[in-house]
Amino acid sequence: MGVKFFSKIKVELGARSYPISIGNGLLRDDNYLLGSFRNRQVVLVTNEIVEPLHSNKMASFFKKNNIEYLLIVLPDGEKNKSLSVLATIFDQMLKNGINRDAVLVALGGGVIGDMAGFAAACFQRGIDFVQIPTTLLSQVDSSVGGKTAVNHNLGKNMIGAFYQPKEVIIDIETLETLPDREFNSGLAEIIKYGCIVDLDFFIWIEKNIHKLVNRSCNVLAEAIKKSCEIKAKIVELDEKENGKRALLNFGHTFGHAIENGLGYGNCLHGEAVGCGMVMASKLSVQLGLISEKDQERVANLISLAGLPTKWPDWPKEKYFSLMSNDKKIKNKTIYYVVLGEIGEAKLLSVKDKVISEALF
Ligand code: NAD
Ligand code: GLY
Repeated sequence: MGVKFFSKIKVELGARSYPISIGNGLLRDDNYLLGSFRNRQVVLVTNEIVEPLHSNKMASFFKKNNIEYLLIVLPDGEKNKSLSVLATIFDQMLKNGINRDAVLVALGGGVIGDMAGFAAACFQRGIDFVQIPTTLLSQVDSSVGGKTAVNHNLGKNMIGAFYQPKEVIIDIETLETLPDREFNSGLAEIIKYGCIVDLDFFIWIEKNIHKLVNRSCNVLAEAIKKSCEIKAKIVELDEKENGKRALLNFGHTFGHAIENGLGYGNCLHGEAVGCGMVMASKLSVQLGLISEKDQERVANLISLAGLPTKWPDWPKEKYFSLMSNDKKIKNKTIYYVVLGEIGEAKLLSVKDKVISEALF
């Protein structure tokens, strides 16, 4: 199949603005790639799963065009999103004489994007960085907005930096090798955008959920474009999460607790977020904000996306202890993202008693 270019979106952040290109087959389009990498020294960071599937396209492009590149292949998985694995990136860059003019390319899912982005932010106080996300989740969420991080044993994404990429290149074709479970995990974040800021998009997802699950390329391109547009707008308004950006964490306070409680890697991020969104919607009903019918609508869409909607049956103490590390804590109070209606989220502090009555 030929290369198809769908759309270009711009994240407007003044001197740190950057484009997001969405297409099918972009990694096979040498002319397109030349625009990004001509005359650059490149560090291509990927992992052991993605390397045999997708790095050869990049490698042959670099060779053909005499572009010097260093390939760094990391171990796969959330458990390797760690300071110790991050250190191996620096080791290899220093041993190979990588300089400040180099561009670091993150080729992989959110784990590679977050970790390689943090490496770019730190290496010699910051080098250019390009995101080439290869999971649906990373194409609609983590590659955009400049959050970079590694995990700590005491909490997810606890060590990191805001560091924007120079460019995001989304090649939908890379999703052809993505297992269904991982693909569905990305659908959770697409549903999230509809829930928090855009009722019309929520309705569009309801209408197109079967085509999305079946990976129809045009429908997928539309969902990715709309998701990136919504995320870009929120990041433009609140890059460092002092306000509106916190809404992107709908379902995440509960989701992170589930992910952490089950052990990193035992539950996919989108699966945990899907459950977390059902929990946050139930809490919204308890607070008298949305109807039971709307809560069922959210849960139904998550279920149609092939995601679990039942959260672990743990004692409430375990949930509260797991949530005590949440980044949305201010003055020792956890703020939860709840729905005022579908398409309009808000941040509220809620008493533990109300949470327990609604959920545990
Ligand atoms: P991931 O990076 O672990 O990728 C999921 C799995 O798919 C991995 O095994 C990976 O090797 C494999 N994979 C990647 N691309 C593939 C492909 N094309 N074909 C086959 N296999 C492929 O997980 P993810 O869901 O992409 O991202 C989750 C991470 O993103 C979490 O660490 C989460 O904290 C982070 N995240 C960050 C942000 C942000 O704003 N920075 C937002 C959301 C999530
Ligand atoms: N995924 C949450 C954020 O980027 O803010």
